[in-house]
Amino acid sequence: MAFIHQLGLNKLFSLFSPVVRPLLNVRANQRLESAVNVWDLRDAAKKRTHLMCFGYLDSGADDELAMARSRSAYSEYECHYNVLAGNSPETLDLRTTLFGGQVNLPFFMCPTAGHRMFHTLGEKATASVAAEKGILFALSSLSTTSVEDVGKILPANQPKVFQLYLWKDKGLNRELLARARENGYDAVALTADFSWFGNRERDRRNGFSIPPSYSVKQIVEAIKRPAWTWDLISNDMYTYANINQDVPAESLAAFINKQLSPEFTWDDAEWLAGEWGGHLSLKGVVRADDAVRALKSGFSSVWISNHGGRQLETAVPPVDALPEIRAAVGPDVQVILDGGVMRGTDIAKGLALGADGVGIGKAYLYGLAAGGKEGVAKAVDTLEDELQRAMGLLGVRTVDELKARGPELIRRRNTVKWPPA
Ligand SMILES: Cc1cc2nc3c(=O)[nH]c(=O)nc-3n(C[C@H](O)[C@H](O)[C@H](O)COP(=O)(O)O)c2cc1C
Repeated sequence: MAFIHQLGLNKLFSLFSPVVRPLLNVRANQRLESAVNVWDLRDAAKKRTHLMCFGYLDSGADDELAMARSRSAYSEYECHYNVLAGNSPETLDLRTTLFGGQVNLPFFMCPTAGHRMFHTLGEKATASVAAEKGILFALSSLSTTSVEDVGKILPANQPKVFQLYLWKDKGLNRELLARARENGYDAVALTADFSWFGNRERDRRNGFSIPPSYSVKQIVEAIKRPAWTWDLISNDMYTYANINQDVPAESLAAFINKQLSPEFTWDDAEWLAGEWGGHLSLKGVVRADDAVRALKSGFSSVWISNHGGRQLETAVPPVDALPEIRAAVGPDVQVILDGGVMRGTDIAKGLALGADGVGIGKAYLYGLAAGGKEGVAKAVDTLEDELQRAMGLLGVRTVDELKARGPELIRRRNTVKWPPA
């Protein structure tokens, strides 16, 4: 099937898209319509997306314990709510400040690679939803839409974050920082937990690759997902849009492998802080000592994350690392949390336990894979609705109130056995 793009047949197929696409998407649209929560969006994503790409989106490292526990950790915290607070949707205010700018919601889209793998509109769909909802969007270095094109979608008055991996080639790092600056990105997040590739066994089993290979297995899977496959063969092939365009698509993965370096140290992080000079966050921190060191090394905020459980198996659930890190850095440093968020109550708990903003990763990608821009909007709207309900029932009206009253409203589950011995 590679010949389709090589011969430019995708351009020919695209002429039929106005007729073929809606027909192939009838069931996907129905599933999207009937989804009532993020788990339903996950099911819908699984049914529309090629197995190899869904597996890449959905999987964690090794036995996927870190991923599962990062999700279930929120259930260990319980809500000690006030009644009769007189809250209605009109009295709630979910706005807050993140990375120096105002946003309409205290949760945001984490940087995630390769949105066009999941849906042909890719980052254009995700960034447009962020722009329309007035929420923070963090762009991955490994995006399939360029930093320039995404920069044009995001409004100037909304904070924008560019995520960076430190590549061995310092020139490439400098070039990416310059492009981020030129395109109005306010902050950079250095991801520090990705110096080795996580062991994602589903990817190996499914033969995941960028661009897709055309083995018999992949073609059979492609036939099973006609809506996704039509998008693939009637559009330009996706590629890592921020990486030097001279690298041929076939060798991009090898290029990226070669550029990742387990040898990086705090010296390299300090080098980056000197180069960027602006708001800088260290992403992937799970310990108080690293958080404190990040601040000493020139970072202005700490981003607690275990990469969605995709890197080190049995890494501590980020929400469990949060209270200690907040205590260590004090009340004035911006602390970001991500990992395992599937519900509005998860977001409320993250804020109450000390986060200033809570990132979502898989939750919005499920929406994207289930149905492009509408799917992303559904994921964000669903979580907003759930967060509103959580705050309304907890008896708080603003994000600041939730943060201030957090420790008395959200407490670790009472694990005393009942009845007592
Ligand atoms: C498909 C996928 C791709 C990701 N790509 C990146 C990336 O390019 N850079 C990065 O810093 N983190 C990346 N992450 C991690 C997210 O930024 C975030 O830390 C994680 O998804 C949060 O956990 P959650 O998915 O459980 O919400 C990726 C996560 C997923 C699921």
